[in-house]
Amino acid sequence: ADPDPLQDFCIADLKAPISVNGFPCKPSSNVTSDDFFFDGLIKEGDTNNLFKSSVTQGNVLAFPGLNTLGISMNRVDLAPGGLNPPHTHPRATESGIVVRGKLLVGLITTANVFYSKILTAGEMFVVPRGLMHFQLNVGEEKALIFTAFNSHLPGAVVASLNLFGSKPSVPDDVLTKAFQVDKSVVDLIKSKFGG
Ligand code: GLV
Ligand code: MN
Repeated sequence: ADPDPLQDFCIADLKAPISVNGFPCKPSSNVTSDDFFFDGLIKEGDTNNLFKSSVTQGNVLAFPGLNTLGISMNRVDLAPGGLNPPHTHPRATESGIVVRGKLLVGLITTANVFYSKILTAGEMFVVPRGLMHFQLNVGEEKALIFTAFNSHLPGAVVASLNLFGSKPSVPDDVLTKAFQVDKSVVDLIKSKFGG
């Protein structure tokens, strides 16, 4: 989904004082082999949290060599029962492959139709750009997925955190009306997500 590059590569200078639509390139005289390799997805993520899951991002911010190339990857670790909660990527379609475990992978269309399947190692999925989706570990073991995106910075809007954990907080009046529940319910959910 990102624009096409206009040169072989453009290793991001993440500290440059300006950014227009992406990052400026560091001078090619400073480019080394290391700029084209990234070991940040080797390590298992820490799943000791509310969702019992962890997304390790291999986007342009983590791996500046991806700058302008229109691609990136994540590593998703899920403990048994862990959930990568419903979220969308505003700037990319996602594909993924299950490396280990057994997961319910689901997506919801703009017409509110829900599609899902239980996947195991070696199976792939696709999430069209911008659609809400999740992965739930329904197996007894840890699960591991690698995902790939057609953007160097797909962005992730996590529904629960976005609405109930924003700073400043979305007014209760908006959320009670949107979800047709009492203020006490909204405040309870906000308390889980620091909103
Ligand atoms: C999984 O949905 C991911 O965004 O990596
Ligand atoms: Mn995703």
